[in-house]
Amino acid sequence: MLATSDPIEQAFSEAAQEWDLTRLYHDLEKISAKELKPIEKACLRGLLCRYRPGQIAHKLAWTAGALRVELNKGLYRYIEALTGQPPNTLRWEKISEWLANYRYPDRQAAPTPTHIDWGEAPEVRQFFGRRDELQTLQQWIVHDRCRVVAIWGMGGIGKTALAVKLVEQINHHFSLVLWRSLRYVLPLSQVIEGWSKKLGNTEGDLLAALKQQRCLLVIDDFEAVLQDGELAGSYRLGCESYGTLLRRLGAERHQSCVLILSREHPKEILLLQGEELPVRSLKLQGMQLEGAKELLRAKGFDPNLTGVNELIQQYRGNPSALKLVALTIKELFNGNVAEFLRQTALSLGDVLRSLLYEQFNRLSDLEKEILYWLALKRRPIGLQELREAMAISSSGSELIDALESLRWRSLIEKSPDAEVQFTLEPVVMKYVHQKLMEEITLEINAIIEHQDFTSLYFLQRFPLVEDSAPDNIRAVQIRLLLKPIKDKTHALLKKNNITTDTIQTNLRQLVSTERLENNLVLLGLWLDREPS
Ligand SMILES: Nc1ncnc2c1ncn2[C@@H]1O[C@H](COP(=O)(O)OP(=O)(O)OP(=O)(O)O)[C@@H](O)[C@H]1O
Ligand SMILES: [Mg+2]
Repeated sequence: MLATSDPIEQAFSEAAQEWDLTRLYHDLEKISAKELKPIEKACLRGLLCRYRPGQIAHKLAWTAGALRVELNKGLYRYIEALTGQPPNTLRWEKISEWLANYRYPDRQAAPTPTHIDWGEAPEVRQFFGRRDELQTLQQWIVHDRCRVVAIWGMGGIGKTALAVKLVEQINHHFSLVLWRSLRYVLPLSQVIEGWSKKLGNTEGDLLAALKQQRCLLVIDDFEAVLQDGELAGSYRLGCESYGTLLRRLGAERHQSCVLILSREHPKEILLLQGEELPVRSLKLQGMQLEGAKELLRAKGFDPNLTGVNELIQQYRGNPSALKLVALTIKELFNGNVAEFLRQTALSLGDVLRSLLYEQFNRLSDLEKEILYWLALKRRPIGLQELREAMAISSSGSELIDALESLRWRSLIEKSPDAEVQFTLEPVVMKYVHQKLMEEITLEINAIIEHQDFTSLYFLQRFPLVEDSAPDNIRAVQIRLLLKPIKDKTHALLKKNNITTDTIQTNLRQLVSTERLENNLVLLGLWLDREPS
Protein backbone atom coordinates (compact mmCIF):
# COMPACT_ATOMS: atom_id res chain seq x y z
CA MET A 1 0.00 0.00 0.00
CA LEU A 2 1.12 3.52 -0.64
CA ALA A 3 1.84 5.57 2.41
CA THR A 4 1.97 9.34 2.40
CA SER A 5 4.46 9.86 5.17
CA ASP A 6 6.12 13.05 6.34
CA PRO A 7 7.78 14.74 3.33
CA ILE A 8 10.81 15.70 5.41
CA GLU A 9 11.37 12.06 6.41
CA GLN A 10 11.06 11.03 2.79
CA ALA A 11 13.11 13.76 1.15
CA PHE A 12 16.26 12.85 -0.81
CA SER A 13 15.90 9.21 0.10
CA GLU A 14 18.06 8.29 -2.87
CA ALA A 15 21.12 9.26 -0.78
CA ALA A 16 20.82 5.78 0.75
CA GLN A 17 21.94 4.29 -2.55
CA GLU A 18 25.44 5.68 -2.12
CA TRP A 19 25.79 6.18 1.58
CA ASP A 20 25.38 4.10 4.67
CA LEU A 21 23.05 6.61 6.30
CA THR A 22 22.45 4.62 9.46
CA ARG A 23 26.13 4.65 10.24
CA LEU A 24 26.52 8.29 9.26
CA TYR A 25 23.63 9.48 11.45
CA HIS A 26 24.93 7.37 14.29
CA ASP A 27 28.46 8.83 14.07
CA LEU A 28 27.21 12.40 13.79
CA GLU A 29 24.95 11.91 16.78
CA LYS A 30 27.84 10.51 18.73
CA ILE A 31 30.00 13.52 17.97
CA SER A 32 27.27 16.08 18.67
CA ALA A 33 26.00 14.17 21.70
CA LYS A 34 22.42 14.69 20.60
CA GLU A 35 19.91 13.21 18.25
CA LEU A 36 19.85 14.62 14.74
CA LYS A 37 16.62 16.45 13.92
CA PRO A 38 14.57 15.19 10.96
CA ILE A 39 15.35 18.46 9.15
CA GLU A 40 19.10 17.93 9.70
CA LYS A 41 18.89 14.38 8.39
CA ALA A 42 16.95 15.58 5.35
CA CYS A 43 19.51 18.35 4.66
CA LEU A 44 22.37 15.90 5.03
CA ARG A 45 20.76 13.58 2.48
CA GLY A 46 20.09 16.49 0.13
CA LEU A 47 23.68 17.70 0.38
CA LEU A 48 24.98 14.18 -0.25
CA CYS A 49 22.87 14.15 -3.41
CA ARG A 50 24.63 17.38 -4.44
CA TYR A 51 21.64 19.70 -4.00
CA ARG A 52 22.43 23.29 -3.08
CA PRO A 53 21.09 24.55 0.27
CA GLY A 54 18.73 26.90 -1.60
CA GLN A 55 17.25 23.96 -3.54
CA ILE A 56 16.92 21.95 -0.36
CA ALA A 57 15.11 24.80 1.39
CA HIS A 58 12.72 25.04 -1.55
CA LYS A 59 12.03 21.34 -1.53
CA LEU A 60 11.48 21.21 2.21
CA ALA A 61 9.34 24.36 2.18
CA TRP A 62 11.74 26.28 4.44
CA THR A 63 13.08 29.78 3.79
CA ALA A 64 16.68 29.72 2.57
CA GLY A 65 17.79 32.05 5.40
CA ALA A 66 16.26 29.95 8.17
CA LEU A 67 17.75 26.79 6.77
CA ARG A 68 21.21 28.34 6.53
CA VAL A 69 21.04 29.36 10.21
CA GLU A 70 19.94 25.82 11.14
CA LEU A 71 22.79 24.25 9.19
CA ASN A 72 25.42 26.64 10.52
CA LYS A 73 24.57 26.07 14.12
CA GLY A 74 24.30 22.29 13.82
CA LEU A 75 25.01 19.93 10.96
CA TYR A 76 28.00 21.78 9.43
CA ARG A 77 29.76 21.91 12.79
CA TYR A 78 29.19 18.21 13.45
CA ILE A 79 30.58 17.29 10.04
CA GLU A 80 33.70 19.39 10.64
CA ALA A 81 34.16 17.70 14.00
CA LEU A 82 33.59 14.22 12.56
CA THR A 83 36.01 14.69 9.68
CA GLY A 84 38.65 16.44 11.77
CA GLN A 85 38.46 19.75 9.89
CA PRO A 86 38.92 23.20 11.54
CA PRO A 87 35.66 24.78 12.76
CA ASN A 88 33.75 27.14 10.48
CA THR A 89 35.57 26.08 7.33
CA LEU A 90 32.92 23.87 5.74
CA ARG A 91 31.37 24.80 2.40
CA TRP A 92 28.40 22.73 1.31
CA GLU A 93 30.13 21.57 -1.90
CA LYS A 94 32.80 19.89 0.20
CA ILE A 95 30.54 17.68 2.27
CA SER A 96 30.60 14.54 0.09
CA GLU A 97 34.34 14.83 -0.43
CA TRP A 98 35.15 15.27 3.25
CA LEU A 99 32.93 12.43 4.31
CA ALA A 100 34.28 10.22 1.53
CA ASN A 101 37.83 10.94 2.67
CA TYR A 102 36.73 10.02 6.10
CA ARG A 103 35.97 6.56 4.75
CA TYR A 104 32.34 7.09 3.84
CA PRO A 105 30.50 5.69 2.03
CA ASP A 106 30.75 2.48 3.95
CA ARG A 107 31.92 0.47 1.00
CA GLN A 108 35.21 2.37 0.86
CA ALA A 109 36.07 1.10 4.28
CA ALA A 110 35.55 -2.50 3.38
CA PRO A 111 37.57 -4.82 1.22
CA THR A 112 36.45 -4.92 -2.39
CA PRO A 113 34.87 -8.22 -3.37
CA THR A 114 37.06 -10.62 -5.21
CA HIS A 115 34.48 -11.01 -7.90
CA ILE A 116 31.00 -9.95 -8.96
CA ASP A 117 29.47 -11.94 -11.77
CA TRP A 118 26.40 -9.97 -12.77
CA GLY A 119 25.12 -12.68 -15.14
CA GLU A 120 21.84 -11.54 -16.70
CA ALA A 121 21.32 -8.64 -14.27
CA PRO A 122 20.31 -5.44 -16.06
CA GLU A 123 22.10 -2.17 -15.52
CA VAL A 124 19.81 0.12 -13.54
CA ARG A 125 20.62 3.71 -14.35
CA GLN A 126 17.70 5.45 -12.77
CA PHE A 127 16.47 4.35 -9.39
CA PHE A 128 14.27 6.21 -6.95
CA GLY A 129 12.77 5.72 -3.52
CA ARG A 130 12.78 2.26 -1.88
CA ARG A 131 14.80 3.53 1.06
CA ASP A 132 12.93 1.45 3.62
CA GLU A 133 13.11 -1.69 1.53
CA LEU A 134 16.85 -1.30 0.99
CA GLN A 135 17.38 -0.75 4.70
CA THR A 136 15.32 -3.78 5.66
CA LEU A 137 17.08 -6.04 3.19
CA GLN A 138 20.49 -4.76 4.23
CA GLN A 139 19.58 -5.39 7.86
CA TRP A 140 18.46 -8.95 7.13
CA ILE A 141 21.37 -9.91 4.89
CA VAL A 142 24.31 -8.03 6.37
CA HIS A 143 23.45 -7.64 10.05
CA ASP A 144 21.15 -10.58 10.74
CA ARG A 145 23.11 -12.80 8.35
CA CYS A 146 20.04 -14.43 6.85
CA ARG A 147 20.78 -17.48 4.74
CA VAL A 148 17.82 -17.19 2.38
CA VAL A 149 15.91 -14.01 1.56
CA ALA A 150 13.11 -13.71 -0.98
CA ILE A 151 11.78 -10.58 -2.64
CA TRP A 152 8.43 -11.37 -4.20
CA GLY A 153 5.76 -9.35 -5.91
CA MET A 154 3.88 -8.95 -9.15
CA GLY A 155 5.58 -8.55 -12.52
CA GLY A 156 7.09 -5.12 -13.11
CA ILE A 157 6.88 -4.03 -9.47
CA GLY A 158 10.65 -3.52 -9.32
CA LYS A 159 12.18 -6.67 -7.78
CA THR A 160 15.12 -6.88 -10.15
CA ALA A 161 15.89 -3.15 -10.00
CA LEU A 162 15.77 -3.20 -6.20
CA ALA A 163 18.05 -6.23 -6.02
CA VAL A 164 20.58 -4.62 -8.38
CA LYS A 165 20.74 -1.56 -6.12
CA LEU A 166 20.99 -3.75 -3.04
CA VAL A 167 23.87 -5.73 -4.52
CA GLU A 168 25.63 -2.48 -5.45
CA GLN A 169 25.31 -1.37 -1.83
CA ILE A 170 26.27 -4.51 0.04
CA ASN A 171 28.55 -6.47 -2.29
CA HIS A 172 31.63 -5.60 -0.25
CA HIS A 173 30.38 -7.79 2.56
CA PHE A 174 30.89 -10.86 0.36
CA SER A 175 33.88 -12.40 -1.25
CA LEU A 176 31.88 -13.40 -4.30
CA VAL A 177 28.58 -12.30 -5.79
CA LEU A 178 26.81 -14.37 -8.45
CA TRP A 179 23.65 -13.32 -10.26
CA ARG A 180 21.66 -15.87 -12.26
CA SER A 181 18.27 -15.69 -13.90
CA LEU A 182 16.20 -18.86 -14.25
CA ARG A 183 14.16 -17.32 -17.08
CA TYR A 184 15.44 -19.92 -19.51
CA VAL A 185 14.93 -22.78 -17.12
CA LEU A 186 17.87 -25.08 -16.75
CA PRO A 187 18.05 -28.37 -14.89
CA LEU A 188 19.32 -27.71 -11.39
CA SER A 189 22.27 -30.04 -11.83
CA GLN A 190 23.59 -27.84 -14.62
CA VAL A 191 23.02 -24.67 -12.62
CA ILE A 192 24.73 -26.12 -9.55
CA GLU A 193 27.67 -27.30 -11.57
CA GLY A 194 28.11 -23.78 -12.98
CA TRP A 195 27.80 -22.14 -9.56
CA SER A 196 30.10 -24.59 -7.83
CA LYS A 197 32.76 -24.06 -10.47
CA LYS A 198 32.50 -20.31 -10.01
CA LEU A 199 32.76 -20.84 -6.29
CA GLY A 200 35.88 -22.93 -6.76
CA ASN A 201 34.41 -26.30 -5.78
CA THR A 202 35.25 -28.73 -8.52
CA GLU A 203 33.17 -31.54 -7.02
CA GLY A 204 29.96 -29.62 -7.59
CA ASP A 205 29.11 -29.46 -3.88
CA LEU A 206 27.36 -26.12 -3.66
CA LEU A 207 26.71 -26.20 0.06
CA ALA A 208 30.32 -27.00 0.84
CA ALA A 209 31.36 -24.02 -1.27
CA LEU A 210 28.87 -21.74 0.51
CA LYS A 211 30.27 -22.87 3.83
CA GLN A 212 33.84 -22.09 2.89
CA GLN A 213 33.33 -18.46 1.91
CA ARG A 214 30.70 -15.77 2.33
CA CYS A 215 28.95 -15.50 -1.03
CA LEU A 216 25.82 -13.82 -2.23
CA LEU A 217 23.84 -15.77 -4.82
CA VAL A 218 21.03 -13.88 -6.50
CA ILE A 219 18.48 -16.08 -8.27
CA ASP A 220 16.18 -13.97 -10.42
CA ASP A 221 12.93 -15.03 -12.16
CA PHE A 222 12.53 -17.93 -9.76
CA GLU A 223 8.88 -18.35 -10.80
CA ALA A 224 10.16 -19.89 -14.04
CA VAL A 225 10.81 -23.17 -12.21
CA LEU A 226 7.36 -23.13 -10.60
CA GLN A 227 4.51 -24.94 -12.26
CA ASP A 228 1.87 -23.04 -14.19
CA GLY A 229 -1.75 -24.12 -14.26
CA GLU A 230 -1.57 -25.14 -10.60
CA LEU A 231 -1.79 -23.33 -7.31
CA ALA A 232 1.23 -21.16 -6.53
CA GLY A 233 4.23 -22.91 -5.06
CA SER A 234 4.51 -26.26 -6.83
CA TYR A 235 7.46 -26.98 -9.09
CA ARG A 236 7.57 -27.76 -12.78
CA LEU A 237 8.24 -31.33 -13.68
CA GLY A 238 11.98 -31.91 -13.38
CA CYS A 239 12.49 -28.77 -11.28
CA GLU A 240 11.40 -30.17 -7.90
CA SER A 241 15.01 -30.27 -6.77
CA TYR A 242 15.02 -26.46 -6.65
CA GLY A 243 12.64 -26.79 -3.70
CA THR A 244 14.91 -29.29 -1.97
CA LEU A 245 17.86 -26.98 -2.53
CA LEU A 246 15.99 -24.02 -1.02
CA ARG A 247 15.10 -26.09 2.02
CA ARG A 248 18.71 -27.12 2.51
CA LEU A 249 20.01 -23.61 1.97
CA GLY A 250 17.60 -22.33 4.62
CA ALA A 251 18.04 -25.10 7.15
CA GLU A 252 21.74 -26.00 7.03
CA ARG A 253 24.55 -23.92 8.44
CA HIS A 254 26.61 -21.90 5.97
CA GLN A 255 27.93 -18.36 5.84
CA SER A 256 26.41 -17.26 2.54
CA CYS A 257 23.13 -15.74 1.49
CA VAL A 258 20.81 -16.68 -1.34
CA LEU A 259 18.53 -13.91 -2.55
CA ILE A 260 15.50 -15.16 -4.48
CA LEU A 261 13.50 -12.84 -6.75
CA SER A 262 10.14 -14.23 -7.75
CA ARG A 263 6.65 -13.24 -8.83
CA GLU A 264 5.37 -16.06 -6.66
CA HIS A 265 6.25 -16.87 -3.10
CA PRO A 266 8.18 -20.18 -2.95
CA LYS A 267 6.47 -22.31 -0.33
CA GLU A 268 9.72 -23.58 1.20
CA ILE A 269 10.43 -20.02 2.27
CA LEU A 270 6.97 -19.63 3.68
CA LEU A 271 7.54 -22.71 5.81
CA LEU A 272 11.03 -21.80 7.00
CA GLN A 273 10.75 -18.06 7.48
CA GLY A 274 10.46 -16.13 10.72
CA GLU A 275 11.60 -12.93 12.36
CA GLU A 276 14.06 -14.80 14.52
CA LEU A 277 15.07 -17.22 11.78
CA PRO A 278 17.63 -16.80 9.03
CA VAL A 279 15.00 -17.12 6.29
CA ARG A 280 12.88 -14.06 5.48
CA SER A 281 10.79 -12.70 2.68
CA LEU A 282 9.77 -9.23 1.59
CA LYS A 283 6.56 -8.73 -0.34
CA LEU A 284 7.42 -5.85 -2.63
CA GLN A 285 4.60 -3.35 -2.97
CA GLY A 286 4.44 -0.36 -5.27
CA MET A 287 6.70 2.64 -4.77
CA GLN A 288 5.82 5.24 -2.17
CA LEU A 289 4.60 8.61 -3.29
CA GLU A 290 7.95 10.44 -3.16
CA GLY A 291 9.90 7.83 -5.13
CA ALA A 292 7.10 7.47 -7.67
CA LYS A 293 7.08 11.25 -8.15
CA GLU A 294 10.83 11.24 -8.72
CA LEU A 295 10.34 8.54 -11.33
CA LEU A 296 7.71 10.65 -13.09
CA ARG A 297 9.97 13.70 -12.86
CA ALA A 298 12.72 11.71 -14.60
CA LYS A 299 10.20 10.98 -17.36
CA GLY A 300 9.77 14.70 -17.88
CA PHE A 301 6.72 15.32 -15.68
CA ASP A 302 6.18 18.03 -13.16
CA PRO A 303 5.17 15.91 -10.14
CA ASN A 304 3.26 18.86 -8.69
CA LEU A 305 0.69 18.82 -11.50
CA THR A 306 -2.92 18.20 -10.58
CA GLY A 307 -3.78 14.53 -10.69
CA VAL A 308 -0.27 13.13 -10.23
CA ASN A 309 -0.97 11.80 -6.74
CA GLU A 310 -4.17 10.19 -7.96
CA LEU A 311 -2.34 8.69 -10.93
CA ILE A 312 0.28 7.12 -8.64
CA GLN A 313 -2.44 5.81 -6.33
CA GLN A 314 -4.40 4.30 -9.24
CA TYR A 315 -1.38 2.40 -10.47
CA ARG A 316 -0.43 1.46 -6.89
CA GLY A 317 3.03 2.91 -7.41
CA ASN A 318 3.93 0.17 -9.92
CA PRO A 319 7.06 1.53 -11.64
CA SER A 320 6.53 -0.31 -14.95
CA ALA A 321 2.97 0.91 -15.14
CA LEU A 322 3.96 4.47 -14.26
CA LYS A 323 6.75 4.53 -16.83
CA LEU A 324 4.38 3.35 -19.54
CA VAL A 325 1.52 5.56 -18.60
CA ALA A 326 3.83 8.58 -18.38
CA LEU A 327 4.70 8.01 -22.02
CA THR A 328 1.05 7.78 -23.05
CA ILE A 329 0.15 10.92 -21.15
CA LYS A 330 3.01 12.83 -22.72
CA GLU A 331 2.32 11.69 -26.25
CA LEU A 332 -1.47 11.57 -26.35
CA PHE A 333 -2.49 14.07 -23.70
CA ASN A 334 0.29 16.63 -23.96
CA GLY A 335 1.28 15.85 -20.42
CA ASN A 336 -2.13 16.69 -19.01
CA VAL A 337 -2.56 14.14 -16.24
CA ALA A 338 -5.99 15.33 -15.13
CA GLU A 339 -7.32 15.05 -18.66
CA PHE A 340 -5.86 11.57 -18.99
CA LEU A 341 -7.56 10.50 -15.76
CA ARG A 342 -10.84 11.95 -16.94
CA GLN A 343 -10.76 10.16 -20.26
CA THR A 344 -9.40 6.74 -19.46
CA ALA A 345 -10.35 4.39 -16.69
CA LEU A 346 -6.84 2.93 -16.70
CA SER A 347 -4.76 2.36 -19.76
CA LEU A 348 -2.62 -0.73 -19.94
CA GLY A 349 0.58 -0.35 -21.88
CA ASP A 350 1.68 -3.22 -24.11
CA VAL A 351 4.47 -4.27 -21.81
CA LEU A 352 2.24 -4.33 -18.79
CA ARG A 353 -0.40 -6.23 -20.72
CA SER A 354 2.08 -8.88 -21.74
CA LEU A 355 3.34 -9.13 -18.14
CA LEU A 356 -0.19 -9.71 -16.92
CA TYR A 357 -0.85 -12.09 -19.79
CA GLU A 358 2.13 -14.19 -18.66
CA GLN A 359 0.94 -14.15 -15.06
CA PHE A 360 -2.65 -14.93 -15.98
CA ASN A 361 -1.69 -17.87 -18.15
CA ARG A 362 0.10 -19.50 -15.24
CA LEU A 363 -3.06 -19.75 -13.18
CA SER A 364 -5.16 -22.80 -12.43
CA ASP A 365 -8.71 -22.80 -13.84
CA LEU A 366 -10.17 -22.11 -10.41
CA GLU A 367 -7.85 -19.14 -9.89
CA LYS A 368 -8.83 -17.73 -13.29
CA GLU A 369 -12.48 -18.09 -12.45
CA ILE A 370 -12.04 -16.26 -9.15
CA LEU A 371 -10.36 -13.39 -10.98
CA TYR A 372 -13.24 -13.20 -13.48
CA TRP A 373 -15.75 -13.03 -10.65
CA LEU A 374 -13.81 -10.36 -8.80
CA ALA A 375 -13.49 -8.35 -12.02
CA LEU A 376 -17.20 -8.66 -12.61
CA LYS A 377 -18.15 -7.73 -9.05
CA ARG A 378 -15.89 -4.68 -9.20
CA ARG A 379 -15.92 -4.28 -5.42
CA PRO A 380 -14.39 -6.07 -2.43
CA ILE A 381 -16.41 -9.16 -1.62
CA GLY A 382 -16.30 -11.67 1.20
CA LEU A 383 -15.73 -15.39 0.99
CA GLN A 384 -19.40 -16.24 1.41
CA GLU A 385 -20.53 -14.01 -1.44
CA LEU A 386 -17.82 -15.38 -3.69
CA ARG A 387 -18.76 -18.93 -2.82
CA GLU A 388 -22.40 -18.23 -3.60
CA ALA A 389 -21.61 -16.50 -6.88
CA MET A 390 -19.43 -19.39 -7.96
CA ALA A 391 -22.02 -21.88 -6.73
CA ILE A 392 -19.46 -23.76 -4.67
CA SER A 393 -21.37 -25.88 -2.22
CA SER A 394 -18.56 -27.79 -0.51
CA SER A 395 -16.64 -26.51 2.51
CA GLY A 396 -14.75 -24.38 0.09
CA SER A 397 -11.26 -25.29 1.20
CA GLU A 398 -10.24 -25.44 -2.45
CA LEU A 399 -11.53 -21.91 -2.83
CA ILE A 400 -9.53 -20.75 0.19
CA ASP A 401 -6.39 -22.41 -1.16
CA ALA A 402 -6.90 -20.73 -4.52
CA LEU A 403 -7.44 -17.32 -2.89
CA GLU A 404 -4.30 -17.77 -0.85
CA SER A 405 -2.42 -18.79 -3.96
CA LEU A 406 -3.63 -15.68 -5.77
CA ARG A 407 -2.33 -13.59 -2.90
CA TRP A 408 1.07 -15.29 -3.17
CA ARG A 409 1.04 -14.29 -6.79
CA SER A 410 0.21 -10.70 -5.79
CA LEU A 411 -2.88 -10.63 -7.97
CA ILE A 412 -5.53 -10.01 -5.35
CA GLU A 413 -5.75 -7.73 -2.36
CA LYS A 414 -7.21 -8.69 0.97
CA SER A 415 -8.90 -5.97 2.99
CA PRO A 416 -7.63 -5.50 6.53
CA ASP A 417 -11.20 -5.15 7.85
CA ALA A 418 -12.77 -7.48 10.38
CA GLU A 419 -14.68 -9.29 7.66
CA VAL A 420 -12.06 -10.38 5.17
CA GLN A 421 -12.86 -9.22 1.66
CA PHE A 422 -11.03 -9.73 -1.58
CA THR A 423 -10.64 -7.54 -4.61
CA LEU A 424 -8.29 -7.05 -7.54
CA GLU A 425 -5.57 -4.44 -7.82
CA PRO A 426 -6.81 -1.77 -10.27
CA VAL A 427 -4.37 -2.75 -13.00
CA VAL A 428 -5.25 -6.44 -12.64
CA MET A 429 -8.94 -5.51 -12.57
CA LYS A 430 -8.58 -3.72 -15.88
CA TYR A 431 -6.72 -6.62 -17.46
CA VAL A 432 -9.12 -9.33 -16.27
CA HIS A 433 -12.10 -7.22 -17.24
CA GLN A 434 -10.71 -6.89 -20.77
CA LYS A 435 -10.05 -10.59 -20.90
CA LEU A 436 -13.61 -11.39 -19.79
CA MET A 437 -14.92 -9.06 -22.45
CA GLU A 438 -12.75 -10.70 -25.11
CA GLU A 439 -13.87 -14.18 -24.13
CA ILE A 440 -17.55 -13.25 -24.24
CA THR A 441 -17.11 -11.48 -27.56
CA LEU A 442 -15.44 -14.60 -28.96
CA GLU A 443 -18.44 -16.68 -27.96
CA ILE A 444 -20.82 -14.23 -29.58
CA ASN A 445 -18.65 -14.22 -32.69
CA ALA A 446 -18.85 -17.97 -32.81
CA ILE A 447 -22.64 -17.82 -32.59
CA ILE A 448 -23.15 -15.12 -35.19
CA GLU A 449 -20.38 -15.69 -37.68
CA HIS A 450 -20.02 -19.46 -37.53
CA GLN A 451 -23.35 -20.58 -36.12
CA ASP A 452 -21.31 -22.39 -33.51
CA PHE A 453 -23.47 -22.79 -30.44
CA THR A 454 -21.24 -25.20 -28.58
CA SER A 455 -18.98 -22.82 -26.72
CA LEU A 456 -21.14 -20.79 -24.39
CA TYR A 457 -19.07 -21.19 -21.24
CA PHE A 458 -18.69 -17.53 -20.32
CA LEU A 459 -22.21 -16.56 -21.27
CA GLN A 460 -23.52 -19.45 -19.18
CA ARG A 461 -21.31 -18.78 -16.20
CA PHE A 462 -21.09 -15.03 -15.69
CA PRO A 463 -23.94 -12.51 -15.57
CA LEU A 464 -23.16 -9.46 -17.68
CA VAL A 465 -25.12 -7.34 -15.24
CA GLU A 466 -25.78 -8.46 -11.70
CA ASP A 467 -29.32 -7.92 -10.49
CA SER A 468 -28.29 -7.89 -6.87
CA ALA A 469 -25.38 -5.46 -7.25
CA PRO A 470 -25.62 -1.94 -5.77
CA ASP A 471 -26.90 0.63 -8.29
CA ASN A 472 -23.55 2.29 -8.85
CA ILE A 473 -21.90 -1.06 -9.61
CA ARG A 474 -24.74 -2.07 -11.93
CA ALA A 475 -24.26 1.22 -13.76
CA VAL A 476 -20.55 0.45 -14.23
CA GLN A 477 -21.29 -3.12 -15.36
CA ILE A 478 -23.72 -1.77 -17.94
CA ARG A 479 -21.35 0.93 -19.17
CA LEU A 480 -18.10 -1.05 -19.19
CA LEU A 481 -19.24 -4.58 -20.01
CA LEU A 482 -22.75 -4.85 -21.38
CA LYS A 483 -22.77 -1.78 -23.60
CA PRO A 484 -19.51 -2.48 -25.50
CA ILE A 485 -20.44 -6.15 -26.01
CA LYS A 486 -23.94 -5.23 -27.10
CA ASP A 487 -22.60 -2.71 -29.61
CA LYS A 488 -20.26 -5.33 -31.05
CA THR A 489 -23.04 -7.90 -31.21
CA HIS A 490 -25.29 -5.58 -33.18
CA ALA A 491 -22.51 -4.58 -35.54
CA LEU A 492 -21.82 -8.28 -36.17
CA LEU A 493 -25.47 -9.06 -36.81
CA LYS A 494 -25.64 -6.22 -39.28
CA LYS A 495 -22.41 -7.16 -41.00
CA ASN A 496 -23.51 -10.77 -41.43
CA ASN A 497 -27.02 -9.82 -42.35
CA ILE A 498 -28.42 -12.16 -39.77
CA THR A 499 -31.69 -11.69 -37.97
CA THR A 500 -32.14 -12.60 -34.37
CA ASP A 501 -34.93 -14.98 -35.41
CA THR A 502 -32.45 -17.27 -37.15
CA ILE A 503 -30.22 -17.29 -34.13
CA GLN A 504 -33.07 -17.91 -31.76
CA THR A 505 -34.24 -20.95 -33.63
CA ASN A 506 -30.83 -22.52 -33.13
CA LEU A 507 -30.39 -21.30 -29.61
CA ARG A 508 -33.74 -22.52 -28.45
CA GLN A 509 -32.62 -26.09 -27.81
CA LEU A 510 -29.48 -24.93 -26.05
CA VAL A 511 -30.70 -22.32 -23.68
CA SER A 512 -30.99 -24.29 -20.53
CA THR A 513 -30.08 -21.84 -17.82
CA GLU A 514 -31.70 -18.70 -16.67
CA ARG A 515 -28.38 -16.89 -16.58
CA LEU A 516 -27.67 -17.62 -20.23
CA GLU A 517 -31.13 -16.56 -21.18
CA ASN A 518 -30.76 -13.34 -19.20
CA ASN A 519 -27.49 -12.55 -20.88
CA LEU A 520 -28.91 -13.21 -24.33
CA VAL A 521 -31.91 -11.03 -23.56
CA LEU A 522 -29.63 -8.23 -22.44
CA LEU A 523 -27.67 -8.52 -25.66
CA GLY A 524 -30.81 -8.54 -27.79
CA LEU A 525 -30.13 -12.03 -29.12
CA TRP A 526 -33.12 -13.52 -27.37
CA LEU A 527 -36.37 -11.76 -27.91
CA ASP A 528 -38.87 -13.86 -26.03
CA ARG A 529 -38.50 -11.29 -23.30
CA GLU A 530 -37.94 -7.59 -23.75
CA PRO A 531 -34.40 -6.57 -22.73
CA SER A 532 -34.56 -4.64 -19.45
N1 LIG B 1 12.83 2.25 -7.80
C1 LIG B 1 12.79 2.41 -9.12
N2 LIG B 1 13.14 3.59 -9.69
C2 LIG B 1 13.08 3.73 -11.03
N3 LIG B 1 12.72 2.78 -11.89
C3 LIG B 1 12.37 1.59 -11.38
C4 LIG B 1 12.38 1.34 -9.99
N4 LIG B 1 11.98 0.07 -9.78
C5 LIG B 1 11.75 -0.45 -10.99
N5 LIG B 1 11.96 0.45 -11.95
C6 LIG B 1 11.80 0.23 -13.38
O1 LIG B 1 10.56 -0.44 -13.59
C7 LIG B 1 10.70 -1.47 -14.55
C8 LIG B 1 10.32 -2.82 -13.93
O2 LIG B 1 11.22 -3.13 -12.89
P1 LIG B 1 11.82 -4.59 -12.68
O3 LIG B 1 12.27 -5.19 -13.95
O4 LIG B 1 12.80 -4.49 -11.58
O5 LIG B 1 10.50 -5.35 -12.19
P2 LIG B 1 10.39 -6.87 -11.73
O6 LIG B 1 9.55 -6.87 -10.50
O7 LIG B 1 11.72 -7.49 -11.64
O8 LIG B 1 9.52 -7.50 -12.91
P3 LIG B 1 9.49 -9.03 -13.44
O9 LIG B 1 8.62 -9.80 -12.48
O10 LIG B 1 8.88 -8.92 -14.78
O11 LIG B 1 10.90 -9.54 -13.47
C9 LIG B 1 12.13 -1.40 -15.03
O12 LIG B 1 12.19 -0.60 -16.16
C10 LIG B 1 12.85 -0.73 -13.88
O13 LIG B 1 14.02 -0.07 -14.29
MG1 LIG C 1 12.62 -9.03 -12.66
